Amino acid sequence: HADDGYRLWQRYDKIEDAAKLNGYQQALAEVVFEGNSPTLLVAQKELKDGLSGLLGKAVPVSQRITQAGAVVAGTPASSALIKSLGLENRLKPVGDEGYLLLTTDINGRKSTVIAANTDVGVLYGTFHFLRLLQTHQDINSLSVASAPKIKHRVLNHWDNLDRTVERGYAGFSLWDWHRLPGYIDQRYLDYARANASIGINGTVLTNVNANALVLTKEYLVKVKALADAFRPYGIKVYLTARFSAPMEIGGMKTADPLDPQVQAWWKEKTNEIYSYIPDFGGFLVKADSEGQPGPHNYKRTQADGANMLADAVAPHNGIVMWRAFVYSEHTPDDRHKQAFNEFKPLDGKFRDNVLVQVKNGAIDFQPREPFHPLFGAMPNTKLMMEFQITQEYLGQGTNLAYLAPLYKEVLESDTYAKGKGSTVAKVVDGTLDNNKLSAIAGVSNIGTDRNWTGHQFAQSNWYTFGRLAWDHSISSEEIADEWIKMTFTNKDKFVDPVKTMMLNSHEAIVNYMTPLGLHHLMGWSHHYGPGPWIKDKPRADWTSVYYHQADENGIGFDRTKTGSNAVAQYFPPVQKQFGNIKKCPEKYLLWFHHVPWDYKTNSGRILWDELAYRYTAGVDTVRQMQQTWNTVEGMIDEERFNHVKMLLAVQEQEAKWWRDACLLYFQTFSKRPIPQGLEEPE
Ligand code: GCU
Repeated sequence: HADDGYRLWQRYDKIEDAAKLNGYQQALAEVVFEGNSPTLLVAQKELKDGLSGLLGKAVPVSQRITQAGAVVAGTPASSALIKSLGLENRLKPVGDEGYLLLTTDINGRKSTVIAANTDVGVLYGTFHFLRLLQTHQDINSLSVASAPKIKHRVLNHWDNLDRTVERGYAGFSLWDWHRLPGYIDQRYLDYARANASIGINGTVLTNVNANALVLTKEYLVKVKALADAFRPYGIKVYLTARFSAPMEIGGMKTADPLDPQVQAWWKEKTNEIYSYIPDFGGFLVKADSEGQPGPHNYKRTQADGANMLADAVAPHNGIVMWRAFVYSEHTPDDRHKQAFNEFKPLDGKFRDNVLVQVKNGAIDFQPREPFHPLFGAMPNTKLMMEFQITQEYLGQGTNLAYLAPLYKEVLESDTYAKGKGSTVAKVVDGTLDNNKLSAIAGVSNIGTDRNWTGHQFAQSNWYTFGRLAWDHSISSEEIADEWIKMTFTNKDKFVDPVKTMMLNSHEAIVNYMTPLGLHHLMGWSHHYGPGPWIKDKPRADWTSVYYHQADENGIGFDRTKTGSNAVAQYFPPVQKQFGNIKKCPEKYLLWFHHVPWDYKTNSGRILWDELAYRYTAGVDTVRQMQQTWNTVEGMIDEERFNHVKMLLAVQEQEAKWWRDACLLYFQTFSKRPIPQGLEEPE
């Protein structure tokens, strides 16, 4: 049947595997659900619909256990039955959002229990339980305790009020401001439900390049309508705060964060927001970057700006997510260093309810970047992670890129801030510096496209972000496995090859776009396709020429002592690695070093040849992906099969375009031939 991908990974079609189906049908006979808060009602419906669909029979909901095979869900507060199980000690450690999944005997009847301290915990537990069935797991002796490692798991929508989406490749913004607040599009509920299924608990509705108008009453009533729609799903709403809003919509002459009247204006504005949305999450701010107003306009610090807003939201338990992506294209210093130089001296100066939101790397969401040196460098400040889910620099709407390996690589990087094992993940989840307040943001890839994300496989990155935000220890492979099974089918003949394809996809893109640590070769401003030649347009933060710095001697950006010395921003063990050409992982080689064309790389090939091999390997991998995909024809619906097939063909052309453009361009410096046996660039 036609399948446009709208249902994402939330498919409850009858299980095809007869043995599995039979087993589940025996084990699961009824749903016992007490309590009727909006969140519990959502959970109850999910459980009923999910079980009925997957088991291919109507599963009744009742108030008490009438037979073996009951699925009992609730909190001790909402359900006398759950309370009677005496789970207090086991529930305590799972906190406000966690849950237990247990197989247990209740009055001699084998039952499955989904228990939590809170209603939203029950909802999360319900989704987990359904996922077990969707992926054909054994549910006969469950003993699961799960709680999120990170407190605020937030999507950042770069959505403008006119519904265009900055760096969005999946249609327009979901937020239909024109019809709000009166009209609640079903899509808002479907969006909230999808997020809840992966544990996302916050959404910033508006672009970091902010429009102050969203803070006016006219818009706030619309924001309230969205917040009301999302609330049952455990999702809080946040807004971006344009720093100059007091002037633009408040009629003030200044937005100086130390001016008492400006502070008072923000307090009043914030109180107004909370009068509409009592559980409003807080603000996300981009200041003093890429033309945005900020504290610099008044010779104030980033902390002055952040603290002003933090004080305004603090009485309401709100937070401020203050972005560290602060740089100026007019500052004659490597952009890599600018955020660190600005923020590091402010460590300890931010209020308790401020999180400094740091991109995974110091440049800008490149296909591969070493971790941002701020991670670990501000032990007295809460740092949160900002990943990009939308594929701004990763082929945008046409390329298949599974991003779990990228996210994992960064999270698992060791900062050495407190000795070995001080991973970025521990900075972000707060365990390294003992912070209770922790957060992670993903720049959304969602839009009005029928399948939400444009490319079917881009759904996997939304899914991945949520899963890793909940538990960053899950492997890329596990996430891919779950996602494929839930989204397509459990058949091994499909799952295995498609998983391999996904796991190789990110590296393929790195190879055909920016191998060996190259970065920012993308077309000027739109960032689509190759454009290494913008080197000819000098800019201060590129330190006069473009990042690749290719010349007759070699290629790469010298960030060691002889160059910009950005390596000095890392802790000594990392410095020693990245800063030493012999020890630097090859994947970051040209990120940190300007390397002669005839430098011998790990493969034994000289650098120029290795570059040609990598570019070629990238294209070859895409061709393999095409072959793999062709083998699964007929195993899934035609519509999604064809969608992916066509996009892979486009990707193959684009990979070639990248390879050819980059090699031919770099060849004008290296003046060396393409190694024998490799396809000649055209
Ligand atoms: C990138 C992106 C911009 C975005 C900016 C940001 O530079 O190209 O569109 O506004 O990041 O993260 O603020």
